[in-house]
Amino acid sequence: MIQTILWKPEGVVMIDQTRLPLEEIYVTCQSYQEVADAIRTMVIRGAPAIGVAAAMGVAIGVQQADAAGLDAQFEAICAELASTRPTAVNLFWGIDRMKRLYASLRHLSHREITERLVAEAILVCEEDIEINKAIGRHGAPLVPDNSTILTHCNAGALATAGYGTALGVVRAAVEAGKTIDVFSDETRPFLQGARLTVWELQHDGIPATLITDNMAGHFLHSGRIGCVIVGADRIAANGDVANKIGTYGVAVLAKENNVPFYVAAPVSTLDLTLPDGTHIPIEERASAEVTHIQGVRMAPEGTVVRNPAFDVTPNRYVTAIISERGVARAPFTESLRELAAKRGSL
Ligand code: MRU
Repeated sequence: MIQTILWKPEGVVMIDQTRLPLEEIYVTCQSYQEVADAIRTMVIRGAPAIGVAAAMGVAIGVQQADAAGLDAQFEAICAELASTRPTAVNLFWGIDRMKRLYASLRHLSHREITERLVAEAILVCEEDIEINKAIGRHGAPLVPDNSTILTHCNAGALATAGYGTALGVVRAAVEAGKTIDVFSDETRPFLQGARLTVWELQHDGIPATLITDNMAGHFLHSGRIGCVIVGADRIAANGDVANKIGTYGVAVLAKENNVPFYVAAPVSTLDLTLPDGTHIPIEERASAEVTHIQGVRMAPEGTVVRNPAFDVTPNRYVTAIISERGVARAPFTESLRELAAKRGSL
């Protein structure tokens, strides 16, 4: 199984997603600043994986902090990690989980606090894989047998601690004996679909076909696609979904062509404090990601660029949201509130 991130005695080990698929290289972050840099530069990316990295970043930061003045150092560690990327709410979820634990441990020694935080970060990582498998179990029955699934970006093992959300549903459907193949949008400008989704599906022997983003409408109209499944970076209380730029267009095209559009995401991606998607902060990334492909300039010097990394799909385009606690359908304000309140093993 592909494992994206791992806690090791020497540091936080991650597969470098900026180098895939040409090179499979693992980097070891030995400080919280290195973890923050890895998130910022997208060595690690994908909402759940960012949440795990943030929890591990907090743990490594506390491990290296001085025992004196720990509270102030803890705040600085959390603030640095929280400043890396604004859209995926899992980042803040991971940090908040560590903050709550830290607040309950302040009577302990620095060594004991460190041990507990490291154990918690490892637990966040292990739980993420279990959560994704549960998402897969809930989602697999929705996938028609002998069908093609269209996905956008990478919501796979590489975007999580392992197994994936959208691709977790694909994996679970395949494990249940269904014959599935995947069409992967290349996902300009960062090419998560071409570089990462195709790589990990090939790794698992799941048939994958790469298309450019502007081909999605053609294939949705052709009747070839059984359903669309994507991940999410943040889901507002009314079911509006922030995900990789281009998702909105795919969702509109899916509805136009009567193809179900599913969002697979853990409950940690819900942000019920936001009434709708207009409140979700959208990260704007460097213009070089648009003017260049893999370091090679495509646009003239001085080109004015916009590069929002995410867009928001209004809830009316979402057929269902698949979580580890079950499947939510419209009206999402009620169904998501119920999911969030549901107690279970996960
Ligand atoms: O900019 P990225 O690569 O971090 O964006 C990732 C996505 O948009 C994913 O679809 C989302 O995080 C869900 S991952 C399970």
